[in-house]
Amino acid sequence: ETVDWDADAAEKGGYEHYMRKEIHEQPSALRQTLSSRLDVDRGEVDLDLDFPQGYLESLEEIQFVACGTSYYASQYTAQLLEEFADVRATVTIASEYEFEGGRDPWRTLVVAVTQSGETADTLGAIRRAAGAGARTLAVTNTLGSTVTRETNDTLFIRAGPEIGVAATKTFASQVATLALLTVAIGRGRGALSTADARDVLEDLRALPGAVQQVLDEEEQVLAAAREYQDSDAFFFVGRRFGYPVALEGALKLKEISYDHAEGFAAGELKHGPLALVSDQTPVLAVLTTGADGDETRNNLTEAQTRRAPAIGVVTAGIRTKSLDWALEVPAVGVFEPLVANVYFQMFAYHIANLKERSIDKPRNLAKSVTVE
Ligand code: AGP
Repeated sequence: ETVDWDADAAEKGGYEHYMRKEIHEQPSALRQTLSSRLDVDRGEVDLDLDFPQGYLESLEEIQFVACGTSYYASQYTAQLLEEFADVRATVTIASEYEFEGGRDPWRTLVVAVTQSGETADTLGAIRRAAGAGARTLAVTNTLGSTVTRETNDTLFIRAGPEIGVAATKTFASQVATLALLTVAIGRGRGALSTADARDVLEDLRALPGAVQQVLDEEEQVLAAAREYQDSDAFFFVGRRFGYPVALEGALKLKEISYDHAEGFAAGELKHGPLALVSDQTPVLAVLTTGADGDETRNNLTEAQTRRAPAIGVVTAGIRTKSLDWALEVPAVGVFEPLVANVYFQMFAYHIANLKERSIDKPRNLAKSVTVE
């Protein structure tokens, strides 16, 4: 008697693709990211980073350098830092980065966000910053990677190995890790009260469960993907924390489905992209808390007036009218757009799967890009 043993399927834990497995691993990846790092009652975090005494207080600016999905995670974080840590934060695509610090470069913290730790563009940027005298920090998923050897400090996102070329669980773990860093910096600078820190940490603690609730809605997403799979193009819109998520949603869809997808700041639709909108271009919008839902809703209506199908991600319990699809996320404050992203990941996955694309290894792309 023989038993059919498919080693490849076993590796994927019964899932057809690593990408889908990794999307579904997000609650456990997030739990690992957060594990023993937050003390909600005291409003404190422990990241095992030893900034020199007084460093955070004297910090003038934080500069993020990153590519692709890691760049969008950085954009999310720059907004968190400005809101909760009262520090100027800039985000630059690594291949475009030139270091510019103030009079004392050491007071600029340059943060390289890179899942692999091997992205040549990001390594090049961090080397330019270090060469100019800035303090550097790596935020990565990969122990022993090159970036960890070239920076003053390292923060691991602990998402576990990610095999699919499309980054999924590592985006969620990057934002969660960087949210912890935001709280650490906000507390260190005296800019974040215990009560406000507690609120942020409570929302973070609720994140794995919130993501699980969204994963449980996969059937709905599959139905929407079936309805729109033959569209001419897909547009993603959002404001504030919803903006990087719109960009990330579009990147994911184009990367694995090869369909035309673009992300916009919702307010920009009327400044040009609206000319492309028709009944063949679904618009996916982040309408939750943290994404200026009402204003974004108005922008979405402008697209609906041009007959665009509207898929909105909304905070659970908030009444929504006249959306073709309303996808709900549990209330987790400024992290709701991060949870909304899980719908976009599943949407990209199912569109690509219906088209039988090579989901884990899309054409022309590599998991880690080691050339500049
Ligand atoms: C994401 O789905 C992409 N495959 C890609 O944009 C990726 O995020 C980028 O190449 C950066 O990689 P890194 O995080 O390993 O530096």
